[in-house]
Amino acid sequence: MSESLLDRVPVVPVVVVDSLEQAVPVARALVDGGLPVIELTLRTPVALDAIRAIAAEVPEILVGAGTVTSPDLAEQAAKAGAQFLVSPGATPTLLGAMRETGLPFLPGTATVSEVLAVLETGQTEMKFFPAEASGGVAYLSSLTTVTPAARFCPTGGIRLASAPTYLALANVGCVGGTWITPASALAEGAWGEVTRLAAEAATLRD
Ligand code: 3PG
Repeated sequence: MSESLLDRVPVVPVVVVDSLEQAVPVARALVDGGLPVIELTLRTPVALDAIRAIAAEVPEILVGAGTVTSPDLAEQAAKAGAQFLVSPGATPTLLGAMRETGLPFLPGTATVSEVLAVLETGQTEMKFFPAEASGGVAYLSSLTTVTPAARFCPTGGIRLASAPTYLALANVGCVGGTWITPASALAEGAWGEVTRLAAEAATLRD
């Protein structure tokens, strides 16, 4: 994949699926809304199967695994068909394991030292997490001068109203968030609502 993970969509939908039946419909709803990227968090027992199902049945979407917190999960996600990996933090071991999969990945960072440690490995794209709790827009703005090579996907506490302020920063490519796929919409099968929220987020850079 030549295009950067950060430049495909303004908002990466971060999705927590509780039931495997939700996986394919939610992916289709996101595609219909103009957001052909999905980050499935590895926080529920069905997450790996959900990645497998989406990879097989919704080829239009780029499916990735989120909440990758161990080398084992990185390997399992890659085997399940994940096309990118996202981690909330990054130890040297985890960074190595994610690189080993050969997939594009966004390691999580929240401090200048963590950003520097990721840059030292040659990786310039990363997640900033938990964005709002870690200093938000003001913090990321400060990083533009000290770590200009780093580009971020801030995630954690970001909503439709705050996303544009993040997207206006020079070092932010996209933001991530769960607001596009609320648990209630997934539970009720309200796919039209997901498509509507996706369409709203898809135009944030326009
Ligand atoms: C993540 O895994 O990136 C976060 O849980 C997403 O945070 P949000 O629910 O505040 O969008």
